[in-house]
Amino acid sequence: MAKTTSFTCTNCGARYTKWAGRCDDCGAWNTIAEEAPLSAGPAKTALGAARGRTIELSALASKETAPPRNRSGIDELDRVLGGGLVPASAVLVGGDPGIGKSTLLLQAAASFARGGLDCLYISGEEARAQVRMRAQRLGLADANVRLGAETALRDILTTLDAEKPDLVIIDSIQTMWADNVASAPGSVGQVRAAVHELTGFAKRRGAAVILVGHVTKDGQIAGPRVVEHMVDTVLYFEGERGHQFRILRAVKNRFGPADEIGVFEMTGTGLAEVANPSALFLAERDRPAPGSVVFAGIEGTRPVLLELQALVAPSSLSQPRRSVIGWDGGRLSMTLAVLEARCGISFAGLDVYLNVAGGMRITEPSADLAVAAALLSAREDIALPPDIVVFGELSLSGALRPVGQTENRLKEAQKLGFTSAIAPGGSKFSQVRGMDVAEMRDLAGFVGAYFGAA
Ligand code: TYD
Ligand code: MG
Repeated sequence: MAKTTSFTCTNCGARYTKWAGRCDDCGAWNTIAEEAPLSAGPAKTALGAARGRTIELSALASKETAPPRNRSGIDELDRVLGGGLVPASAVLVGGDPGIGKSTLLLQAAASFARGGLDCLYISGEEARAQVRMRAQRLGLADANVRLGAETALRDILTTLDAEKPDLVIIDSIQTMWADNVASAPGSVGQVRAAVHELTGFAKRRGAAVILVGHVTKDGQIAGPRVVEHMVDTVLYFEGERGHQFRILRAVKNRFGPADEIGVFEMTGTGLAEVANPSALFLAERDRPAPGSVVFAGIEGTRPVLLELQALVAPSSLSQPRRSVIGWDGGRLSMTLAVLEARCGISFAGLDVYLNVAGGMRITEPSADLAVAAALLSAREDIALPPDIVVFGELSLSGALRPVGQTENRLKEAQKLGFTSAIAPGGSKFSQVRGMDVAEMRDLAGFVGAYFGAA
């Protein structure tokens, strides 16, 4: 039998038959690595020829009720999990090294343990003394969490089968080593094997398993995206370095909504929950300045107000700079193009910087109008009124499209002291007391109303 060597992108998991410098799928450089050939076994006979056993089939309807969820008591975490941790499920928590994954999960383990779960925390990165010291500093030393420091997967699985815990935390999957896979720890093959074995344990024993995965850029070790399809829930823990805010974001959840976020703040004594993110994100806002606009967004089930900041300055480059933090660069280009084509406002020869204050990342298209407003405000050096929030999706024709949950956005704005809003025409909502809503049909109308001089 011919050996089937394959190459896999350690960033996104795309497979190739030959090596390449750049992954066509995710665009990352130098992330494609050779994977040890899978011993598929000789295909002597077609599978259909030799009889296997028949599998059990059952009706879709069942009398079983949904298993009770285990709540940690950390509300931000429970909400992102879809209302608590489901027994017999596997959760992957990905994030950049140093973002606070170990801190979050140690705090979660302690909370679950206080709620009566039998929790094991297996660290493949830190010695037990190190984890203990961290627990001490976080004020969790009294929690009934059992610690292990091990990387040999076989030994870990044997221990788990003997101890039968309710919850296992594995920190991290990249340090786990399966002795039946002939490649180095952290390689795609090893990481896949570890996740396969551990999710298998979760289903077999009814335990919840939380796996930590480092997001890696250099491709030396396999990132969490390689195994996203193998687990029930994928959470990413993100934040800007230099900011204390951390966002826990559900990107896949077989047991709940997938766009929910939890907001935390990194403090000297661990991660603190942020129950009212809008107030936090707007706390640093000074007097209304040109280029600053407050966007009324929705993150998961919650409205969140965010400040967008734009700076527009004459460029000395032949190709002016377009720099975005916290939003999609492609959407910025689109917004600039619509401003030019539909309103005749050109940004040629101008550097454009756009920033979402507080280190938050916006994924909603309903931020288009707020971005356009920030860009115009910066370019014309005209500040919008201080008590106004903006939202709306922009189409290529320059028309503004209504977005979902208008009323929730307005209520949140009203709660935080705003008195008016700019929204797309045709939005469906009932009036919110104290909020004055200006409905705009298209971008040109918006420009005329607020930047008449432009
Ligand atoms: P850590 O949880 O080790 O990150 P990860 O597991 O994702 O690699 O977090 C490390 C950072 O968090 C470290 O740079 C210091 C900071 N930190 C605090 O600010 N306060 C704390 O109480 C703790 C435990 C960590
Ligand atoms: Mg860690």
